[in-house]
Amino acid sequence: MSDLVRMSITMDRELADRLDSLLEGGRNENRSEFIRDMIRCRLVEREWEQDQEVLGTITIVYDHHSSDVNRRLTHLQHEIHDSILATTHVHLTHELCAEVIIARGKASGIKQFADAVRQQKGILHTAFSPSTLGNVGS
Ligand code: NI
Repeated sequence: MSDLVRMSITMDRELADRLDSLLEGGRNENRSEFIRDMIRCRLVEREWEQDQEVLGTITIVYDHHSSDVNRRLTHLQHEIHDSILATTHVHLTHELCAEVIIARGKASGIKQFADAVRQQKGILHTAFSPSTLGNVGS
């Protein structure tokens, strides 16, 4: 188990109250857990800013009758095939498909891929989730 460090934090009452109000609506976190989570989120942001090796997930919802969007999405993935870890395709309705693509690699490459996906015609919605390969502390 890693060493624990105890530290105290000083802040204005108003900000402390706002911290507690964030905790009330949350996942039963205490202040320490909340601050640890915030630090990890910032570390992940920094990995992306510094163009490190990262993990990213892209969710795409599209109408498979719409032009050749299916073929274009496959083509884009083959262009970075070394980075694509998995692709899951779900037939949502008679018309609509959802695809979730998990990619690892340099942050800039994954962002570029997500932008190329977003710019395709015939896509109803995309959601991009930047994450980490895990080097953000325990
Ligand atoms: Ni489908």
